[in-house]
Amino acid sequence: MENINWSDLTFGYMKTDYNVRSYYRNGKWSDLEISDSEHLNLPIAATCLHYGQEAFEGLKAFKGKDGKIRIFRMRENALRLQSSAWGIRMEAFPIEQFEKAVVEVVNRNRRFVPPYESGASLYIRPLLIGTSAQVGVKPAQEYLFVVFVTPVGPYFKEGFKTTPVGIYREYDRAAPLGTGTYKVGGNYAASLVPGEIAHKAGYSAVLYLDAKEKKYLDECGPANFFGIKNNTYITPASSSILPSITNKSLIQLAEAIGMKVERRQIPLEELATFEEAGMCGTAAVISPIQRVDDVDNQQSYIFSKDGTPGPISERLYYKLRAIQYGDEADPYGWVTVL
Ligand code: PLP
Ligand code: COI
Repeated sequence: MENINWSDLTFGYMKTDYNVRSYYRNGKWSDLEISDSEHLNLPIAATCLHYGQEAFEGLKAFKGKDGKIRIFRMRENALRLQSSAWGIRMEAFPIEQFEKAVVEVVNRNRRFVPPYESGASLYIRPLLIGTSAQVGVKPAQEYLFVVFVTPVGPYFKEGFKTTPVGIYREYDRAAPLGTGTYKVGGNYAASLVPGEIAHKAGYSAVLYLDAKEKKYLDECGPANFFGIKNNTYITPASSSILPSITNKSLIQLAEAIGMKVERRQIPLEELATFEEAGMCGTAAVISPIQRVDDVDNQQSYIFSKDGTPGPISERLYYKLRAIQYGDEADPYGWVTVL
């Protein structure tokens, strides 16, 4: 498209042509509406503005060599948004309508899907908010579901390169019995102060420890954590992390290439035994970790001396990308081809 330098895109917002909306009023969801406005009209007392009744999703569409557009695992995002809605007492948005809205918004913004060669993708952002005006702390009566899209490049500007991450014990993003397993705005608000401190110190992200004991690895600000050792893919089990769809996919890919998989608590000290470590997520894809600095204890765990990603992270990364862009067959039924 005119004026967009696809290969230089970062993970940012740009207005696109259309978004899709549905309104929950009088006990039912409206048909999907198409809008060309990037603004919402909300009551000043809407529950999303005061009490954080807000959940979102993130998924991507990719243009293949064959010119076809592929959307990755949208049903999983639809299900997770239902879980998030339940978690903060919002009206759940129906799965089939979610899928229909995603297909519609991508189709209507086809000219924003980056070309295959650029390595960029179309980021799809569904959003669910409480919109009715009230000041008492209780769930809204009315809700709005919106999906918009924006073309994006890599989340970490380095792309598929290693970066350092930092541990800061004085901050938590979510509590063990809190909302960490839901994709709700409050969790991201809680990550802004530690995120800023970490970025200023040169880290690409914070690696959070479990909030209760500060003994086990939880996840990174915008992505799950995984470590590799002895041909095993190891990722934290925790009651305060987001169930990542990318992580779930990597687990299947790791098993398919003959690796063992462990989803369990990972004591911080175990970092010393990992051959590779990485962050994974829709935006992050796989972002390999160069080293983890335990900033409070002035201790470092190094995974890449020369900055290059480890061989297994690299293999999983290319395998995942190949399925997403349609370079390889999709034996799992993960992609929806438009
Ligand atoms: N963890 C957090 C806190 C996230 O924000 C994300 C991004 O969605 C992930 C993990 C990765 O999840 P997914 O792979 O489903 O994008
Ligand atoms: C994603 O990976 O889709 C995310 O939502 C992470 C971040 C942009 C919040």
